[in-house]
Amino acid sequence: MFQSLARLSPDSILGLMAQYRADTAPNKVDLGVGVYRDVAGNTPVLRCVRQAEQAVIYNQNTKSYVAPGGREEFNMRVEELVLGNTPGLTQQRYRTAQTPGGSGALRVGAELIRLSAPTATVYVSNPSWANHPALLGSSGLKLESYPYYDPAAHVLKFIETLEYLDQARVGDVVLLHACCHNPTGADWSLSQWQQVLDLLKHRQLIPFIDLAYQGFGRGLNEDVEGLRLIFAALPEALVAVSFSKNLGLYRERVGALIVQCEDSNRAEAVHSHVLKVARSIYSMPPDHGAAIAALVMGDATLKEDWVVELNSMRTRIEDMRALLTRHLNEATASTKFDFIKSQRGMFSLLGVSSKIVDQLRQRHVYMTADSRMNLAGIMPHNVAYVAESISICDS
Ligand SMILES: Cc1ncc(COP(=O)(O)O)c(C=O)c1O
Repeated sequence: MFQSLARLSPDSILGLMAQYRADTAPNKVDLGVGVYRDVAGNTPVLRCVRQAEQAVIYNQNTKSYVAPGGREEFNMRVEELVLGNTPGLTQQRYRTAQTPGGSGALRVGAELIRLSAPTATVYVSNPSWANHPALLGSSGLKLESYPYYDPAAHVLKFIETLEYLDQARVGDVVLLHACCHNPTGADWSLSQWQQVLDLLKHRQLIPFIDLAYQGFGRGLNEDVEGLRLIFAALPEALVAVSFSKNLGLYRERVGALIVQCEDSNRAEAVHSHVLKVARSIYSMPPDHGAAIAALVMGDATLKEDWVVELNSMRTRIEDMRALLTRHLNEATASTKFDFIKSQRGMFSLLGVSSKIVDQLRQRHVYMTADSRMNLAGIMPHNVAYVAESISICDS
């Protein structure tokens, strides 16, 4: 039976990780893997998570099943965190299901779209997170990419985005990054979100918003301003939420899918399909991480501590952006890397060829082939070396 399956080439990120691990140079730098790192190079368990986890273990008296939609309390806290007190937004119109990470939410959302609109096209930004096509496309939906960013000029292609999406058909779906666009770090301003909203409304397109970095851009509320604008104004919208980065719960697989519908009856009906999809893929999401997340979001002291920790992760990345920009500008006697300083979240695209990425690897500086850099891989002790390497390889 399995004779027809030829071995696949290794996933490019996993291949990069293996290459990095095998490199014995003491000055090697990992800008490839998409996880947060502190100044010591660790991806820490947050203080608030440690505390909440102890309470979860202490108070747990069963390991019995929860439900296909996960923990009710978690889902309620996610709604508060993401949608807040958005004026005009009626709670009866949206429903939330806990999912295995943001990836699970993207996959369940895609299945839901295919069930209700099998001929819809899903528009994904060019470039986008490398796993988007696999997660959305495996549902059988047709994918198309819309222009988003010019990696050579380091600017958004905003006019092209609007012009391209203006050709979409009624009922098509547009995948949007709520903040900290992966891989570019280039986000829309609120007035650009408003223009996108006008277009979605006018063309009757459905937004599917990927929220994987809430709190990593400008702050927990600031990072969802565009998303809330959309949810307040449109009858239908979806959001895939991930707590992998902002709570550092990567391996616990904590996420949620929020679906907004035109009214409460429709929301109930659609939610029943979300639960059925979940049941048919993984039956129920894992509980442990969601129990921790619910406690952190629901307990005033833990939440306060989370905000402090989140702010310090964000500030560290911002500091490294500024420091790398300064070193690069000095090393190249130019201001051409100023874009790094003004972008948001963990990633920026250096905008160089894969040949230069290979040359950087010869100097033990690792990034993905599209020249995406994880700024959380930069430390005060390696920033000068990274800047020097980039300036040598790019000259
Ligand atoms: C843009 C984007 N969306 C979604 C995810 C999904 O994250 P997870 O499934 O780990 O929660 C990631 C993770 O890297 C991401 O970068």
